[in-house]
Amino acid sequence: MSSEKNLLEVTKLRKYFPIKGVKGPGVQAVQDVSFFIRKGETLGLVGESGCGKTTLGRTVLRLYEPTGGKIVYDGNVLYDNPLGEDGKPVGRTLAANMLPYRRKMQIIFQDPSASLDPRMTVGEIIGEAIDIHKLASGKGERADMIKELLGKVGLNTEHANRYPHEFSGGQQQRVGIARALAVKPEFIVCDEPISALDVSIQSQVVNMLEDMQQEMGLTYLFIAHDLSVVRHISSRIGVMYLGSMVELGESYELNRNPIHPYTKTLLSAVPVPDPQLSRTRQRIVLEGDIPSPMNPPSGCRFHTRCPYATPRCSQEVPVFKEHEKGHWAACHLLES
Ligand SMILES: Nc1ncnc2c1ncn2[C@@H]1O[C@H](COP(=O)(O)OP(=O)(O)O)[C@@H](O)[C@H]1O
Ligand code: SF4
Ligand SMILES: [Mg+2]
Repeated sequence: MSSEKNLLEVTKLRKYFPIKGVKGPGVQAVQDVSFFIRKGETLGLVGESGCGKTTLGRTVLRLYEPTGGKIVYDGNVLYDNPLGEDGKPVGRTLAANMLPYRRKMQIIFQDPSASLDPRMTVGEIIGEAIDIHKLASGKGERADMIKELLGKVGLNTEHANRYPHEFSGGQQQRVGIARALAVKPEFIVCDEPISALDVSIQSQVVNMLEDMQQEMGLTYLFIAHDLSVVRHISSRIGVMYLGSMVELGESYELNRNPIHPYTKTLLSAVPVPDPQLSRTRQRIVLEGDIPSPMNPPSGCRFHTRCPYATPRCSQEVPVFKEHEKGHWAACHLLES
């Protein structure tokens, strides 16, 4: 169950990737994104491929160094470099030593085969995580922990002696999850953990992650490119477009009453089980390609594809703000 307390607070987080030999800010992958996650809840994060979900997840963990903004974890400032009036970070960076947080904050990757060292056995992979954080007092305890973790994710003790390539994709992802759980984390970025898996086993892995959450009181940032995946497991959902968070709200509310034009188009593509809702919902097809984050459109980044765009949209960046209780969005249409 989620509590009222925020575990993570992210304010105007920005991540640009400079490009060698090219002047300018580079790839503007995450543009001033703000949100919080309550203790014990799952925040779903959706958006098309390339919109910055992975970059946001990794920057929150400081696996990528932010370009600007603020990250507060459980009341502790992990990073603070506010943006000045001109939109540039002021440069007074406060960056915490991440060592204590490396255990508490974990990540599960999209591609399990690429994230497991092929030269290490499954036991060594899980054991390494235990060793780094000195969580076992001796060989016996370490072996017991590995055995227990394998059981938790539905694998056998004998699996500890095998190599990643001997497993199916679903089993590899179970190993990745066991490795993340080995260090008794509090917060996990689940970066499209089921996108690379067979449809037949996707729900098993999702159910397992939900069980673990209950059992260990975990908090998740659950990334998916498809709303249908996150809507059942998330208490709230954030929607990204070209590096910006365009809308965020309670899962039920966002699905029932999306207020941002981009979310409306995303939802129009998802089949709805409710026949009444499905009759009122028209399928909206977006025209044009997603622009490049190296050279994003001015003003509202969605203006080149938005069916409702006005001249103001290409000139002014819409502010991301709370329009109804717990329901945020960034769109000039909502201002009047
Ligand atoms: N290490 C990197 N260097 C340069 N550009 C990157 C890097 N990682 C991601 N990008 C770019 O940042 C944008 C967002 O990527 P990503 O966060 O992977 O999106 P998503 O996870 O939503 O598919 C893309 O344009 C991608 O090409
Ligand atoms: S600000 Fe303008 S372009 Fe952006 S979503 Fe709203 S109406 Fe569309
Ligand atoms: Mg990604």
